[in-house]
Amino acid sequence: MRSLGTSTAASSLVLAAALASAQVLTWDQAYQRATSDLQKLTQDEKIGMVTGVTWMGGPCVGNTYAPQSIPYPSLCLQDGPLSSRFANPITVFPAGINAGATWDRDLIRARGAAMSAEAKGLGVNVQLGPALGALGKIPSAGRNWEGFSSDPYLMGIATGEAIKGMQGSGVQACAKHFLLNEQEHNRETISSNPDDRTLHELYLWPFYDAVKANVASVMCSYNKVHGTWACENDELLNGILKGELGFKGHLISDWNAQHSTVLSANSGLDMTMPGSDFSTPPGSIYWGQNLAAAISNGSVPQSRLDDMVTRVLAGWYLVGQDKDHPPVAFSSWDGGAASVNVTTPAHGDLARTIARDSIVLLKNARKALPLKKPASLAVIGSDAIVNPNGANACPDRGCNNGTLAQGWGSGTGEFPYLVAPLSAIQEKLAGTRTKIVTSTTDDAAAGAEAARAAETAIVFINSDSGEGYITVEGHAGDRNNLDPWHDGNALVQAVARTNRPTIVVVHSVGAILLETILAEPNVVAIVWAGLPGQESGHALTDILFGDTSPSGKLPYTIGKTEADYGAHWTTELVDNFAEGLFIDYRHFDQAGIKPRYEFGFGLSYTTFKYSTLATAVNVAPGPTTGKTIVGGPEDLFDIVGTVSAYVRNSGRVTGAEVAQLYIGYPDSAPSTPPKQLRGFSKINLVPGQSGQAIFELRRRDISYWDVATKKWVVPKGKFKVYVGSSSRDIRLKGSFTV
Ligand SMILES: *[C@@H]1O[C@H](CO)[C@@H](O)[C@H](O)[C@H]1NC(C)=O
Ligand SMILES: *[C@@H]1O[C@H](CO)[C@@H](O)[C@H](O)[C@H]1NC(C)=O
Ligand SMILES: *[C@@H]1O[C@H](CO)[C@@H](O)[C@H](O)[C@H]1NC(C)=O
Repeated sequence: MRSLGTSTAASSLVLAAALASAQVLTWDQAYQRATSDLQKLTQDEKIGMVTGVTWMGGPCVGNTYAPQSIPYPSLCLQDGPLSSRFANPITVFPAGINAGATWDRDLIRARGAAMSAEAKGLGVNVQLGPALGALGKIPSAGRNWEGFSSDPYLMGIATGEAIKGMQGSGVQACAKHFLLNEQEHNRETISSNPDDRTLHELYLWPFYDAVKANVASVMCSYNKVHGTWACENDELLNGILKGELGFKGHLISDWNAQHSTVLSANSGLDMTMPGSDFSTPPGSIYWGQNLAAAISNGSVPQSRLDDMVTRVLAGWYLVGQDKDHPPVAFSSWDGGAASVNVTTPAHGDLARTIARDSIVLLKNARKALPLKKPASLAVIGSDAIVNPNGANACPDRGCNNGTLAQGWGSGTGEFPYLVAPLSAIQEKLAGTRTKIVTSTTDDAAAGAEAARAAETAIVFINSDSGEGYITVEGHAGDRNNLDPWHDGNALVQAVARTNRPTIVVVHSVGAILLETILAEPNVVAIVWAGLPGQESGHALTDILFGDTSPSGKLPYTIGKTEADYGAHWTTELVDNFAEGLFIDYRHFDQAGIKPRYEFGFGLSYTTFKYSTLATAVNVAPGPTTGKTIVGGPEDLFDIVGTVSAYVRNSGRVTGAEVAQLYIGYPDSAPSTPPKQLRGFSKINLVPGQSGQAIFELRRRDISYWDVATKKWVVPKGKFKVYVGSSSRDIRLKGSFTV
């Protein structure tokens, strides 16, 4: 087995570029230039720079009016978190949830850098991603897959890497959605009302990382927060984002999420998108001349408009868009054909590497995997092939036909090609003696017949979700349940009952319930491949045939029943976030519920042994005392200690392990989850090799949000330290006292 957990040559080049790249200016330098430009602008020009030109009024999904007095363009804002939407050709990378499942900082950064290198080539100024505003407290919620994880720490680390990669490529990243947009049903009317501690320790947590990474742009969400729309919520925008977190960039509305002229301006909104509603002729134009009038009659101060413009200009300078930024080279409204080809073979290769390293091996009995030259192999299910009508047959990927490689909605891209699992298996087995039998529908009887004609069967099942403006097979964005679609359980049952060893491959947006499938004794292996993007089949065969050992780990929990999660989307117009801090594994741990596959779980073709835990933490208990800088209190990100452990590859093939650090807080921090992820390290090891996992603890990693003083506080007492291979496979335990 070659088994390289590392990147191939071409993606290594992207990686090196991503790690080397850096933004051009500091915020102070960017503000200096912005402030000097501000003096040259007329009032109308200022208004135009913060107002969208209306829906479909320019080539990008969002565009502003260009001023004449300074060399600054009509800003181009384009979706989204895994690709540049509508444009082609473009690389369709694995979804955020797959990037999260790699637990690989370098790959996540390289993905951001490559995506935004393509966006820059197309003339995009602001790329609308990463997505970090749906943490996934509700496992069936429609847009969880656009983000990285249901754990705020993993979401935060991934967010920071993604933004550094994107902005290093000269594109302004836009962290979205701010805040608490946890479901699609009633997203424009529901009010999310978490308590202050839950807000800070879960939902706001990754936005600290975004701001700390100097994100240029943040997008406020559709929903209300404590009864006030997010895009006109003074406490949330001025108080928390620009106050507590020290955000210096600009805040844009989600598309048509603005509801007022004066209140939104005074509450901290800096740019309205797309400048109107979606009707023709456009309605709801809250800014433009209405903002000018509101300034004239004194209800919005001139200083507020000047601040908006300064922030917008500063982001543009920050990433160097005043130099050599290409003009817009495509239109979203005419099929998206770009006048330049921004894709590269290296980006395709990177997409494959990320997809490969995100695959989570959930079950592997009787050493079913990797496949060892079977005489015959049945490949079963409509998810094994590309939709016969084409990979892009449905606008915004709003159907679930053929193999699933991204969800649906605005956070999608046009596949330049899509490597189906079946074609990759055929490619892999070309010239060998293995006979391939196929059944490429979800018909159970036909699937069983194919299985009977082969030695081993691989069954493909899936589960899709997306943004609520499209309903697919009765799912209005959010999923109706966590079962596989298209009667996938019946298909697997029929195949398994032919007594063939049955390998199940799951393409899904998130958790699906596996109990029915696991009840079949012939289901020997389950492979979770998530939403792998354009290189789907190649990444899968890299794992199935053992060229690489699987190294992905679950970025969320797979429960035995949906009720085990204690959270489903609501049709009420208020969500009080009653579960508080206890979402995903925090809830399973607290409630003593055994999950089917726990957060952080994933098998390998090799084994790893842990040893030599060392802990050195040196910090006094108490609150942060530093002044607020970009990202929050100056001392919040101080490194206050390290935990380390050795990991040895004790098996027979090369493989990568994600060593994970969980921390349990002392009782002086009231009702905190039993353990919380606070470090991880992915180490690639050849057989017999050892590596050291070093986890640096920042002050925030051992702090909780004290609602009385409104500060991050390090509690006094004994902290528990857990290092292991998943949130429940703890190999080493220790403690430290502050
Ligand atoms: C000022 O103008 C804005 C925009 O036309 C309007 O919404 C607001 O009601 C006006 N306020 C006053 C006090 O006249
Ligand atoms: C764009 O470039 C890629 C190489 O990255 C090539 O495979 C593809 O055919 C090109 N597409 C077009 C439309 O020119
Ligand atoms: C998707 O599949 C359904 C059911 O087979 C079919 O009716 C529909 O036309 C397909 N749509 C596309 C765009 O392929």
